[in-house]
Amino acid sequence: MTTLHIHGNLGSCPVYIGERSQSLESLLKGRSTILVTDTTVQGLHAGRFPHLPILAIGTGEGIKCLSTVEQLYRQLSDLQADRSTVLVGVGGGIVCDLTGFVAATYLRGVPFAFVPTTLLAQVDAAIGGKNGVNLDGYKNLIGTFRQPEFILCDPSFLETLPADELRNGFAEIIKAAAIADGSLFGLIAERHSEIQRCDAELLQNVMTAAVAVKVSIVNRDETEQSERRLLNFGHTLGHALERVFGIRHGEAVAIGMIIAADLSVRRGLLAKEECELLRKVIAKYGFPTDLPVGSRDRLVDAMGKDKKRAGRKIHMILLKSLGHAADVELDMHDLGSLLP
Ligand SMILES: NC(=O)c1ccc[n+]([C@@H]2O[C@H](COP(=O)([O-])OP(=O)(O)OC[C@H]3O[C@@H](n4cnc5c(N)ncnc54)[C@H](O)[C@@H]3O)[C@@H](O)[C@H]2O)c1
Repeated sequence: MTTLHIHGNLGSCPVYIGERSQSLESLLKGRSTILVTDTTVQGLHAGRFPHLPILAIGTGEGIKCLSTVEQLYRQLSDLQADRSTVLVGVGGGIVCDLTGFVAATYLRGVPFAFVPTTLLAQVDAAIGGKNGVNLDGYKNLIGTFRQPEFILCDPSFLETLPADELRNGFAEIIKAAAIADGSLFGLIAERHSEIQRCDAELLQNVMTAAVAVKVSIVNRDETEQSERRLLNFGHTLGHALERVFGIRHGEAVAIGMIIAADLSVRRGLLAKEECELLRKVIAKYGFPTDLPVGSRDRLVDAMGKDKKRAGRKIHMILLKSLGHAADVELDMHDLGSLLP
């Protein structure tokens, strides 16, 4: 087991990687607690939960919205949750985002913790204190910054995770390596077969290194004023691809990373060979590497409507090498020229 620490202005948070979920009870120290999960995780793993009240939401990105938040507020009120009640989100990124948002706002804030159960949530969504919900199909338009009390990552949850969901997590691991850890990139390039077979020791090392990338960036820029934007590598285009074509998050981010790396080469920032290596590794993890046919104009349009954009500028994360990223501000006029 490895423990990494988030030390933010918003709170401190240990991340226990490789801890057994059975430790949850002792981490809660007998405090009044309500678990939030989704129906799939409840069906598969309820036997591992401590005997505590459970609120189960449905599944799918559509559930990450204000009406689910309202439903959870009402259920908490019915259960007479007070300011000392701890909410624990046990599930994927959707459960974690919703639980964190509800906990940050119910009674102006109650304590919360996460037990992430997808690879994506264990290496990314649960880490860093960003919690939020979607509005009108736009992702994470409403949200808060608040650190959980702890994050318990038990890799044994991944044994029941479908292959496509596992792959979404691999996309985020590739991203973390590409922006900030060249040696992690070397490892995931070289040992891709064992990693995808979930070799326990190797996967835990890879997860720890990916979480370390996020933790160290969050520790320097908790509220995304500057460096934290690097974590959006592949996501500016990826979110637009997801919204317009309904493709899976990991696939959208994979294509987004390749387009951003291509642009990095065209701008003279990244060596062509490194861009090709990134493309090869992305393909080895089973992701598509090209834009869907006929998508260019719709994508430019969708990015133009990005509600999180500040004025006429858009931030794109480009690569200087595999392991080093740069935040480049582009004018919306230049958007069309970004795409191949
Ligand atoms: N807050 C952040 O910083 C941050 C960062 C990245 C992503 N996110 C958010 O995370 C969300 C995506 O998270 P996700 O990929 O975990 O999706 P998810 O929460 O929808 O989980 C994916 C699916 O896997 C199921 N599942 C969960 N654990 C399982 C297990 N152990 N075995 C079998 N099935 C299991 C879920 O029921 C769901 O159907 C998005 O909404 C995204 O915006 C947030």
